[in-house]
Amino acid sequence: MFGLRRKWSRPFDLLRTKWTEVPVAKGRAKTHDLQELPDETLWQYWSEAWHEDAVTDFAHRGWYYCLYRDVLRGKRVLDVGSGLGYDAITFAQAGAQVTCLDIAESNLATVRKVCRYRQISGIDFFYMQDLKSLSALPDGYDVIWCGGSMHHAPFAVVREEAQALLAHLRADGRWIELSYPKTRWERDGKMAFDKWGEKTDGGAPWAERYLKAARAKFGHRGTCVCASVDAVDLSPFVPLDIAMAFGLLHHLDDVTASAMVRLVGGALRPGGRLVTIDPCRVASEPRLTRILMDHDRGKYVRTAQAYRDLLAPHGHVEGQVVSDVLRVSFPHMVATLTFTAAQDGPENLTSSVEKP
Ligand SMILES: C[S@@+](CC[C@H](N)C(=O)[O-])C[C@H]1O[C@@H](n2cnc3c(N)ncnc32)[C@H](O)[C@@H]1O
Repeated sequence: MFGLRRKWSRPFDLLRTKWTEVPVAKGRAKTHDLQELPDETLWQYWSEAWHEDAVTDFAHRGWYYCLYRDVLRGKRVLDVGSGLGYDAITFAQAGAQVTCLDIAESNLATVRKVCRYRQISGIDFFYMQDLKSLSALPDGYDVIWCGGSMHHAPFAVVREEAQALLAHLRADGRWIELSYPKTRWERDGKMAFDKWGEKTDGGAPWAERYLKAARAKFGHRGTCVCASVDAVDLSPFVPLDIAMAFGLLHHLDDVTASAMVRLVGGALRPGGRLVTIDPCRVASEPRLTRILMDHDRGKYVRTAQAYRDLLAPHGHVEGQVVSDVLRVSFPHMVATLTFTAAQDGPENLTSSVEKP
């Protein structure tokens, strides 16, 4: 513990030793080197990396550009840990007024060079040497945008930084925090978290400590099990009163979804209920809704009727389509399935189905 305190006694100096190397598409680059590139070469490099993240790999950044580009137009945005400025430049070009804040001067210098060359306006820059430097940061930001930057240090460090940054946010402002999605962990082969931290952040493996801390803090309030939903062993938990599957069905094909429902039905008390909420296709979707649905990570976004058809063989279904779950128009089907048919008994709770 003492060693840890000493190591983090000058947190931003420590972080700075690592973070002059930033993510570029699927790799990393040192901004000291990028800064030296001729303008056009740097621009080519930057724009190809942006295209890879925002268009080719839409699930990485493209989805949140669709979601937030219009929302942030005309807003004053503080991009904390702006890195190579993908988000800052995207939002500035869509009409936001963005301040790039970073702890690494060469990161800011690289973004500044791109902006100068491409005559991109609407961006200014703020170098944060330590917390004291924040006294020079303007006040009144509408949004603090924080993408993959503040989870690289222990809670105590980040808490202090967050408090100091919050003083610069309007009273009715928003803090938008983005970290790593589960799909990325899956794509990387579901590694142990300490190994995965090494992979995602190349030697700044602090992220996984948050997961451990969450388990330590909330573990007594529930049990977390990592297993496939069509094969999980629910026998330690029977009989359950109610089951909730929020945002799950639209990731499952019909066969897997039916297996999951059967498994849950077998673990519930007689008359028990399963409640599901999932994105739902509707007739005449607005364009943005259609784009978001088309690019949802869930490949099985269904119509309300299709969700009903999926659940109905197991009991009585009540369903409702609601459109106000998110700030953008993104209809969801809320369904309650009251089991009537006899389901597999607990003895079959680990049974899986064979996929065709
Ligand atoms: C993984 S990169 C993410 C960059 C960018 N937000 C993006 O989405 O590509 C992390 C960035 O956050 C910066 N950073 C790391 N720790 C930070 C902290 N505690 N406060 C502010 N910036 C930090 C790094 O210098 C680096 O530019």
